[in-house]
Amino acid sequence: MRLMFLGDVVGRSGRQALVTHLPRLIERFRTDFVVVNGENAAGGFGITEEIAEEFLDAGADCITTGNHVWDQREALVFIAREPRMIRPINFPPGTPGAGATMLTARNGARVFVANVMGRVFMDALDDPVRPLEAALDYHRLGSEVDAAIVDVHCEATSEKQIFGHMLDGRVSLVTGTHTHVPTADHRVLPGGTAFITDAGMCGAFDGVIGMDKEEPGRRYIERTPGQRMTPATGAATVCGVAVDTDDRTGLANWIAPIRVGGDLEPAVPTRWETA
Ligand code: FE2
Repeated sequence: MRLMFLGDVVGRSGRQALVTHLPRLIERFRTDFVVVNGENAAGGFGITEEIAEEFLDAGADCITTGNHVWDQREALVFIAREPRMIRPINFPPGTPGAGATMLTARNGARVFVANVMGRVFMDALDDPVRPLEAALDYHRLGSEVDAAIVDVHCEATSEKQIFGHMLDGRVSLVTGTHTHVPTADHRVLPGGTAFITDAGMCGAFDGVIGMDKEEPGRRYIERTPGQRMTPATGAATVCGVAVDTDDRTGLANWIAPIRVGGDLEPAVPTRWETA
């Protein structure tokens, strides 16, 4: 089965790149299931219902989020009626929305997707491990589910790697998000879980993690508050990973980077074309 995960979509430039390239990627590589992290899609801060629908219409099967999930307050309401969008599982009990979900892929497969938020250098949420373990207990790969994807939204690379090792052999893919820079450590771990420390963003790289470079630079140098940060407006690169899984076990056969458009060196899973 063919899974695709695309990293944090930032602002208008990122949205435009996503809706342009995602349908083409799905068609070209006959992708079965796509997850997109959308928490920075609305001007860099949060996601609106209109934008979520735009991503789903473009071919996303599930939208994950993170620390910015509630920046657009309407998300508190529409997340309850949109089962294809989830928020980190370690928000306190009673928080709107779900932290994990079961969805059906284009090929009919049952896909489990979970979103957790880290605790290092981030606003403290509840323990991310226990609720994730509890959800996985009821969604066993190879029996109850055909594929499982976990978006680990963390600042620290070490914390994301801990989740990769902890879940190795139990899910198809563990991917880090939030830091917006694609890492080159994509690989299949010894137990059969595909892993990457950060999938990268769908956004303009001629900026600072997707935001226009002027204000972050000025704030850093002058140390005074200033204008609101706005997304960078240059051409965006769509970044993420492609994962091929074994239909029987749900574990990964291989993982390859995706980088399309914008400033980064292109990379697409050409192996799927010859397979
Ligand atoms: Fe984030």
